[in-house]
Amino acid sequence: MKKVIEILQEELSAAFEKAGYDKKYAKVGVSNRPDLCQYQCNGALAAAKEYHKAPIQMANEVVEFLKDSESFKEIAAQAPGFINMSVSDRFLADYINKMAASETLGLDKAENPETIVIDYGGANVAKPLHVGHLRSAVIGESIKRTARYLGHKVIGDVHLGDWGLQIGLIITELKHRKPELVYFDESFDGEYPTEPPFTMSDLEEIYPYASGYSKEHPEYKEEAQTATAELQSGRKGYLALWQHIINVSVADLKKIYTKLNVEFDLWKKESDAQPYIPQMVQDMKDGGYAHIDQGALVVDVKEETDTKEIPPCMILKSNGATLYNTTDLATIVERRRLFDPDEIIYVVDKRQSLYFEQVFRCARKTKIIGEDVKLEFVGFGTMNGKDGKPFKTRDGGVLRLEKLLEDVNEQVLDKMKDRDMDKDMIDDAAAKISLAAIKYGDLSNQASKDYIFDVDRFTSFEGNTGPYILYTIVRTKSLLAKVKAQNITVDEKSAIEPADSKSETDVMLALTKWSETVNAAFEEHAPHKICQFVYELSDTFNKFYHENKIVTNENEKQRDSYIKLSALVGKVLETAIDLLGLEAPERM
Ligand code: ARG
Repeated sequence: MKKVIEILQEELSAAFEKAGYDKKYAKVGVSNRPDLCQYQCNGALAAAKEYHKAPIQMANEVVEFLKDSESFKEIAAQAPGFINMSVSDRFLADYINKMAASETLGLDKAENPETIVIDYGGANVAKPLHVGHLRSAVIGESIKRTARYLGHKVIGDVHLGDWGLQIGLIITELKHRKPELVYFDESFDGEYPTEPPFTMSDLEEIYPYASGYSKEHPEYKEEAQTATAELQSGRKGYLALWQHIINVSVADLKKIYTKLNVEFDLWKKESDAQPYIPQMVQDMKDGGYAHIDQGALVVDVKEETDTKEIPPCMILKSNGATLYNTTDLATIVERRRLFDPDEIIYVVDKRQSLYFEQVFRCARKTKIIGEDVKLEFVGFGTMNGKDGKPFKTRDGGVLRLEKLLEDVNEQVLDKMKDRDMDKDMIDDAAAKISLAAIKYGDLSNQASKDYIFDVDRFTSFEGNTGPYILYTIVRTKSLLAKVKAQNITVDEKSAIEPADSKSETDVMLALTKWSETVNAAFEEHAPHKICQFVYELSDTFNKFYHENKIVTNENEKQRDSYIKLSALVGKVLETAIDLLGLEAPERM
């Protein structure tokens, strides 16, 4: 279905041509002065140079051909050469009715669906999740859902960090604490009992301890590095411990991600890419892309046009060890083999942007990936506390995601304690509301920007917040429940009537932005655009709701039309929040 702007642009193009001007000047956009008009075209200003005429004269000539068009309520040339437009109520209502009748709410699915791998989440086994992981999960999930909704084939991969020093640290600490464990036996042959020798809470204590201790004690760190190297070269007992660490951590991570309403299609790990490394390194050498620099194997990735220094990409350290980027490059090889993607999107902290620049360049230069495959880095900013510094818990510790969820949930429950609802219902609503508070608080900011995590603001039922959006959806639901309870039958064939108030027009105008919003959110990897959309729609709808009688309206035709419009708003909002990874409760 064509977007409103596209329809208007076609009409303007015809008029520009009739007036003797190139139709390329007939570009229409949403007005930046909504108090004056809904849409505008600035083409006459741009065309003036080519035609050596006063823009206002040209704008007037174009408008002359559109005066009788039924699409417009108002169209006028405005000095120095704008064309200001507002669509007619009939035009708008026709559009809204088509939208209501369409299964996709008027949105066109992708004509050529692409295969897209989204690398997000990025949790590390055995290490506690930090807020960066929260952002990656929340933003990545929304990008994934949006791409999928548009019809693309999307594979979300958590890409677990399971192959680094953190494993060596845990092995080392365990060895100090429980040297009698069978896994430390040099002759251990790989048969191991299924019971892990630690729990998740053990790991949560062991890792930070070992990490801190290693910083003060170089010999301990060296021990951990050796353990990591031994693990990576296949020592059986260490592999068994590593497997235990993964099992225990993954079970825990799955629980947390489920709570966050984040779902991965793949639970791949950095270690899964290791088998691809030897051949990849060989190809890099054979292709003449890699060279030895001070014992290390590196690929130069700087380009002539660089304005800043882009260091070479190190593939192997002088002792032969692989690095984070070796794994990332091998993962590209693996993804190509397994999925042949058209695009890979990485949702990672923006502080890794130079790193990914190196990886992408290296992948292209060494022909690991063709020019036709897009590699996109979506870098996000930091989640800060109210003090403007990276978010910490009240006691200054690293954030435990589950604790954060619990705290927010408590705050929401407190707000709802006087509700006349069953306990189960309150619990269900509170869980959904607190998740909306956290996720919407994050997603409503442009991903690349830092933002302040403000629980009080995020959990407020008013303003641009997740709970406010859910509240609006619940309002549409209870409105429809009332319709049902009062046995009101809305004629199936009846249509949404042209708007008869400003507030109704505003609701309709907000609705028309649905398809362009989803497209823009996908193309620009910008979930915040969906947030802007749902906020505008909620806000206009609530105003309309307060100003008009809906279910109790005596005029049946108007009542039915209002009910249908409200139902459409509810449906669009619910579809939209699903793209954000949120759900609305039945009541709140
Ligand atoms: N595990 C990494 C971290 O905690 C994030 C992984 C991002 N994805 C990637 N392909 N490198 O920083």
